[in-house]
Amino acid sequence: MAKTLVPQARPCIPEEDVAALLEDFAQILRSGRLTMGPYVERFEQEFAACVGTKHAVGMNSGTAPLEVALRHWGVAGREVVVPTNTFIASSNAALLAGGRPVLCDIDPQTLSSGLPQIEARITAKTAAVVVVHTAGLIAPDIEAIRSHCRGRGLLLLEDAAHAHGARADGQPAGSLGDAAGFSFFPTKPLTTGEGGMLSTNDRGLADFARSFRTHGVSAQGRSLVRLGHNYRLPELSAALGLRQLARLAEHTAARNRLAARYRRVFVRLGCGDVLLPEFAGRVHAYYKFPVRLPAGKSREWVVAQLRARWGIAAGSVYWPPCHLTPFYQRELGYGPGDFPVAEAVLAQVVTLPMFPGLRDEAVEVVCCGLAELLAEAEGDTRAGK
Ligand SMILES: Cc1ncc(COP(=O)(O)O)c(C=O)c1O
Repeated sequence: MAKTLVPQARPCIPEEDVAALLEDFAQILRSGRLTMGPYVERFEQEFAACVGTKHAVGMNSGTAPLEVALRHWGVAGREVVVPTNTFIASSNAALLAGGRPVLCDIDPQTLSSGLPQIEARITAKTAAVVVVHTAGLIAPDIEAIRSHCRGRGLLLLEDAAHAHGARADGQPAGSLGDAAGFSFFPTKPLTTGEGGMLSTNDRGLADFARSFRTHGVSAQGRSLVRLGHNYRLPELSAALGLRQLARLAEHTAARNRLAARYRRVFVRLGCGDVLLPEFAGRVHAYYKFPVRLPAGKSREWVVAQLRARWGIAAGSVYWPPCHLTPFYQRELGYGPGDFPVAEAVLAQVVTLPMFPGLRDEAVEVVCCGLAELLAEAEGDTRAGK
């Protein structure tokens, strides 16, 4: 396989932060308090202030807050509407909480669910709706989704795993529903290596999450009050999270600047048709930069050629969608043809390199490479050209 010269994603930890972190780490190691100490507490407080919720609860993954919120809401035996286009963890969280994920189709412009797709899947058994801010974009109709859920007594969970720093009409991702889950996986806009955060205004949910992440012991930590798990966040991870949080606005601005550059260069090259629309009132987190290939162009061929010729790593958001995974087909009875929009659109979507350290010249190389492939007859495999 050709060497990767332009990765798709890369954590951004400036040298200045590496030096500061080494001091944080020394302090933590000398203190002997390696988990659930003052760094986790501060990270939670600053994260809650950043997303504008009353509570934030640190956890060891982005899946954990989704599962914990759905457990607290009692979705066991009930249905949870989830877009089929997401990382499988969003819908697995419903299964882990004992519920049934009811997948829905997507809006071709946002690559995620809007109200029409959600509404079509609501039944008398629906307990909750999960919205995924795919690639970092909050749905243009999030307000309509929110009021629909309120009106029907449904709980709204934001899967904000892609959306650190995103806003809808000034309101941060993480504060738009009844609760939200963030992931801090290394590719994400904010990383702790592994980790996640629940944000909510609901005190009862926050208390439940704090108990559940520590095996189900009470807030005072003395007695077991429910079945729980170990979903704790280590102090070293929280120290990294704090430094990353302090950079979030700067990193979001860098991602938006790169996105604007991609847009300008594609238009200049006559390839503006690949761009997905922008929406008024949205700050996009640009976790990924998706583009849509013309019909008939194979995404597999394009991804392979970008790598072979220019060392560019491109990917998906997402392929396959959840309903085409072997597990969901086997266990939940989904199959090809269930969500025609998702199948048609996602087969043409490719994500291009996007991370704050990406150089402008690399954006130029990626755009020119893709433009060249779009102009070529498919099947040309001039690897190493
Ligand atoms: C949309 C979405 N939801 C949930 C998750 C789960 O996060 P984690 O891998 O931290 O558990 C991810 C992670 O990739 C994700 O992309």
